Amino acid sequence: MKSFKEFMEERVKEYYSSTEIGKDFFTAPQLDKAFGMALCDHIYEFIKNLSFPVLFELGGGNGHLAYDILSIFKEKYPSVYSQLTYYIYEESFYLMTLQKNRLKEFEGKVFWTRELMPMEGVIFSNEFFDCLPVHVVKDGKELYVSDNKELWGEISDERINLFLERMNYKDKGHVIEVCLECIDFLKIISQHLLKGYHILIDYGYTSDEIHRYAGGTVVGYKSHRLVKDILKETQLFDITAMVNFSAIVEYGKDVGLETAYFGNLRDFLISSPSFLEELERLSSSKNPEDIERLSRLKIMLVSMGDRFKVLVQKRT
Ligand SMILES: C[S@@+](CC[C@H](N)C(=O)[O-])C[C@H]1O[C@@H](n2cnc3c(N)ncnc32)[C@H](O)[C@@H]1O
Repeated sequence: MKSFKEFMEERVKEYYSSTEIGKDFFTAPQLDKAFGMALCDHIYEFIKNLSFPVLFELGGGNGHLAYDILSIFKEKYPSVYSQLTYYIYEESFYLMTLQKNRLKEFEGKVFWTRELMPMEGVIFSNEFFDCLPVHVVKDGKELYVSDNKELWGEISDERINLFLERMNYKDKGHVIEVCLECIDFLKIISQHLLKGYHILIDYGYTSDEIHRYAGGTVVGYKSHRLVKDILKETQLFDITAMVNFSAIVEYGKDVGLETAYFGNLRDFLISSPSFLEELERLSSSKNPEDIERLSRLKIMLVSMGDRFKVLVQKRT
């Protein structure tokens, strides 16, 4: 018997050890470079006055976002580019190899690591926190998995009860997912980020919206469809849980990460001059490639725009 959290952790590791992004689901950086353009507008403002800024990406996927960000900085902000260093924090050797191939032209500028280091700059991620495993609890019991079946048992970690109390979730009477790893990760981020910002982009909810997810948010994806029964599925599949942004904001305060911006992805994208310019240019183009790109930008704005949120935390 294992806790659901252990089950999820194993599945995530197994999945990324041999699967590239795009097989079972798409991410925004993979859809179009305009996502990286928008992020760069914001990142530039955060690092333009630092002498040796570090850009630290959590979970690099196929390396698209790193490629876009480095290309944009090289072309648009050459003096900042010459001073910056880019790190990718990646667990999967399989994906690291894909990233290294895609980023060959940035050799000496981009590095891979499994540890954070003291830095000034920006730590950021897209769809990283949703991979971190969650404890699933309901009515004072925690979910375990035994022989591919659900089993409800004792709460495995006292921090779960403290979390439920602090977030006022004790008497909700429905499933609550508790991501202690997210909280631990925030602490690691704040310990290493001496000066700068943390940007977290992911699909998620706030405490005000939690009632919409009374059955929980954990889902599996296989070939761009939802997996029917994640406990019984024998093939590799992606498993994720939506991010509890209220918890990230609340626990961020404990470790000196103060909310500087919180909104949905659509607002974040359209607040970027580069994204808007690109949208305008593509909208007036007759070129088939541009028309295709325009439809991808629309997917980003419409189907991802509300579901995804952007949280920017400043290291105080
Ligand atoms: C859903 S993908 C997102 C990839 C990329 N950010 C994008 O938007 O295309 C999650 C990424 O996080 C990595 N990852 C997941 N859990 C991790 C962990 N515990 N430590 C380091 N990397 C992890 C995966 O290997 C993968 O690169």
